[in-house]
Amino acid sequence: MASKHLVVRLAVESDAAVIATMSRDLIEQGLVWSWTPQRVARHIRNRDTLTVIASDGDEVIGFAILYVGEEHAHLNLFAVRPSQQRAGVGRRLLEWVKASCLTAGIAVIYCEMRTTNAPARGFYKRLGFTETGIVPRYYGGVESAVCVALRLRVEVPAA
Ligand SMILES: CC(C)(COP(=O)(O)OP(=O)(O)OC[C@H]1O[C@@H](n2cnc3c(N)ncnc32)[C@H](O)[C@@H]1OP(=O)(O)O)[C@@H](O)C(=O)NCCC(=O)NCCS
Repeated sequence: MASKHLVVRLAVESDAAVIATMSRDLIEQGLVWSWTPQRVARHIRNRDTLTVIASDGDEVIGFAILYVGEEHAHLNLFAVRPSQQRAGVGRRLLEWVKASCLTAGIAVIYCEMRTTNAPARGFYKRLGFTETGIVPRYYGGVESAVCVALRLRVEVPAA
């Protein structure tokens, strides 16, 4: 079970380095490191992006970076430290993200992950996402991605 001291909050710029390192080690393994501290800091400052962390005291345990458009949101990055996985931290982060999207009137949250990433595929499925397709060679021109989507409301076509 997640620690009772777990806090989910918006990231601040001083969280950028640890988020970037977690992205490099937990998400971008085998690829060119693109989510550098500078890029993460830009997203923390960007008004169209929510960067959220789960922390226990000073330690960042998990994080999410979510682009929020007018109708759709896109989870760019999402990870929990291996030592803290399967304890409900990812679920807490995703519930925070989902509540924010519902408030913002978002219709669908999209995300991609490597087809070989069985833990993430299990996680998103458990949290209500549906697999919608495969994009060949999405990662570095080599690895394929599976796309998932969580529908929050039915979109009404413009009149
Ligand atoms: C995917 C990830 C974020 C899940 O985080 P987590 O904190 O371990 O997830 P939770 O403990 O909240 O799990 C919630 C539910 O998701 C499912 N789930 C989580 N990890 C799973 C796994 N390895 N295999 C199958 N199902 C899994 C389970 O149903 C779980 O509930 P349960 O533990 O009661 O059975 C984590 O494994 C991770 O950080 N992976 C590396 C980074 C990554 O792949 N990110 C996603 C792509 S950007």
